[in-house]
Amino acid sequence: MKVDLYEKIWMLLAAGLIAAFLGAIVFAAGSQAMRPPSHMETIDPAAVYDAPGFSNPGLVEEPDGRLVVSIVAEMFVFDPDEIEVPARRPITFRITSPDVIHGFDVVGTNANAMVIPGYVTEFTISFEPGEYLIACHEYCGLLHHDMQGVLIAEEESS
Ligand code: CUA
Repeated sequence: MKVDLYEKIWMLLAAGLIAAFLGAIVFAAGSQAMRPPSHMETIDPAAVYDAPGFSNPGLVEEPDGRLVVSIVAEMFVFDPDEIEVPARRPITFRITSPDVIHGFDVVGTNANAMVIPGYVTEFTISFEPGEYLIACHEYCGLLHHDMQGVLIAEEESS
């Protein structure tokens, strides 16, 4: 069988590309590990509701004045599903899941994160006054589309 020179070149290029892509996956898995990219706090997904903060989810003002909202994202609700926070103050979210991967998206804001069982997702953000839809944006099962909540950022009266 005669293989044309140009065909050989293209076959080599294609094989090279595949090798490069596989190499990139192996390199990423080996050197940077397969895990969430940021906050690395772990939690036992089977004991989420016994963990500090998550046994009674919601907004808490820490002794140092930090505002922390703990949320459990599970099939197919956010607990709590209505969150009231003061507007224009940094709010720290701590979110975890006892079952599968969920998403936490406060629609129209930069609050947008994955919630991975076994990990605590944490980020801090502040909101302009308003009422925001919270949506799960990772497909998590048959009622994924029902998994939503509301965040109300209220102007503080001074
Ligand atoms: Cu939870 Cu989709």
